[in-house]
Amino acid sequence: MTLQKKPTILVIFGSMGDLTWRKLAPAIYNLFLAGQLPEQFAVFGLDIKEGSTDVFRQRLKDGLDGFCNCGDIDEETWTAFTANLSYISGDFADPATYASLRDQLQALEKKWDASAIHVFYLATPPGIVETIVKGIGVAKLAHDKQRARIVVEKPFGHDLASAVALNGVLTAVVDESQIYRIDHYLGKETVQNILAFRFANTLFEPIWNRRYIDHVQITVSEEVGVEHRGSYYEHAGALRDMIQNHLMQLLCLFAMEPMVSFDADEIRNKKVDVLKAIRPITDEHIHSVAVRGQYGTGWMQGQQVPAYRSESGVASDSATETFAAVKLLVDNWRWQDVPFYLRTGKRLGGKVSEAMIQFRPVPHRSFPATATPDWQPNRLTVHIQPEEGIRLHFQAKQPGSSLHLSPVDMHFTYRETFKTRSPEAYETLLSDVMLGDATLFMRADQVEASWSILMPILNAWKNSVPADFPNYPSGTWGPEAAQVLIAQDGRSWFQPILEAR
Ligand code: BG6
Repeated sequence: MTLQKKPTILVIFGSMGDLTWRKLAPAIYNLFLAGQLPEQFAVFGLDIKEGSTDVFRQRLKDGLDGFCNCGDIDEETWTAFTANLSYISGDFADPATYASLRDQLQALEKKWDASAIHVFYLATPPGIVETIVKGIGVAKLAHDKQRARIVVEKPFGHDLASAVALNGVLTAVVDESQIYRIDHYLGKETVQNILAFRFANTLFEPIWNRRYIDHVQITVSEEVGVEHRGSYYEHAGALRDMIQNHLMQLLCLFAMEPMVSFDADEIRNKKVDVLKAIRPITDEHIHSVAVRGQYGTGWMQGQQVPAYRSESGVASDSATETFAAVKLLVDNWRWQDVPFYLRTGKRLGGKVSEAMIQFRPVPHRSFPATATPDWQPNRLTVHIQPEEGIRLHFQAKQPGSSLHLSPVDMHFTYRETFKTRSPEAYETLLSDVMLGDATLFMRADQVEASWSILMPILNAWKNSVPADFPNYPSGTWGPEAAQVLIAQDGRSWFQPILEAR
């Protein structure tokens, strides 16, 4: 059954900001082109900046020109798309802003002769979220649980205490069921496919456990540095920016028990179970389960790039990590003693997101050693980006009269199989908010459980200034300590396969 979208008004707080420009504008436009917006649909852009509807439209157009994969925009389509876009300039701390918004929402619904879904999208810096949520609350814009939804971007707090406080602010105004916390990784097509791969096939689930799996590696590496976000990143670092949310969510999808139904809370409950089973990190073990790094200058694609400490908005003696790797254990029946190694960093040797499941070696080698010089245990890699697909690595006999085995790959790619563009994460997520489907969004308990796991590391790192920063040159795969982290268990990081440029 396809759910029908009801008349919807999307209100974007921070509509002149970076997120709207880069991500939301392309997503809304692509949904429009695909005919996936409701017939009655409007966008109100709210921002403190002086502006007009024309300026707002132009800003969105610039976003499409720069960041949309939607080709040339023809005049007629653009006019149709922008017919229902309007701009409200206002101070988020001023009750008059919300009163004016309420009047405009009511006027539009009257014109439509329909009660619309109201999506309040907070595309703003975290510092202003509380003010906006309170403004929405005072103006009673969200008291209808069925019709009003609030979308919140990460970061959800800076640590456990602030995440609990933020959740408190939100739930004082709206019900948990009205809150859509975005982790854009969950909107990626390949990430959603993890559940299909695991639970829509009989083949893999029986071996998806400690009896057959030796360990799991999750890598999210980026080539970019902090770009223009130095002042935000200085207070975040890789553990907060990436591991607390994106990598932990990936871990949950790989480790969770089968869901009984495809229901938002059922799936989210199963993910929370994983987080609750993660072995607490004790102070004496931190150095052996968590390492950090910071990029120095180096070479990327023939260009010399600056060190993190020379980036704009970054302190010249910054102790912020741009690389983090952690080893986590999930203490339950399925995963006891199977390590999950997570690593992420900026200015690494390639842009890759993938998870690799390393299976155990065969229990007995029946083939002569001469036939199997390159014997490797099976490996399954889920490629999330830029390549999208799944690769199974196994042994095959080479053609010929002599007995010689070599490792080969069975490889599924989205590109070749489906021959269609995967929707961008924000398209999927926006569409789901409009439909009221919270499956791909983070619930308060997930966010808090994830912070709880990482708090010992965050505290330890805060209290000890790293003496060796910068400890990896840009363009490499991170600090040596990351190799040591995994080598102490007799394992090594699997080198991601980079797509040809
Ligand atoms: C964001 C982080 O959540 O994810 C950024 O704040 C990071 O620092 C980005 O660059 C990576 O997302 P993607 O989709 O490009 O892998």
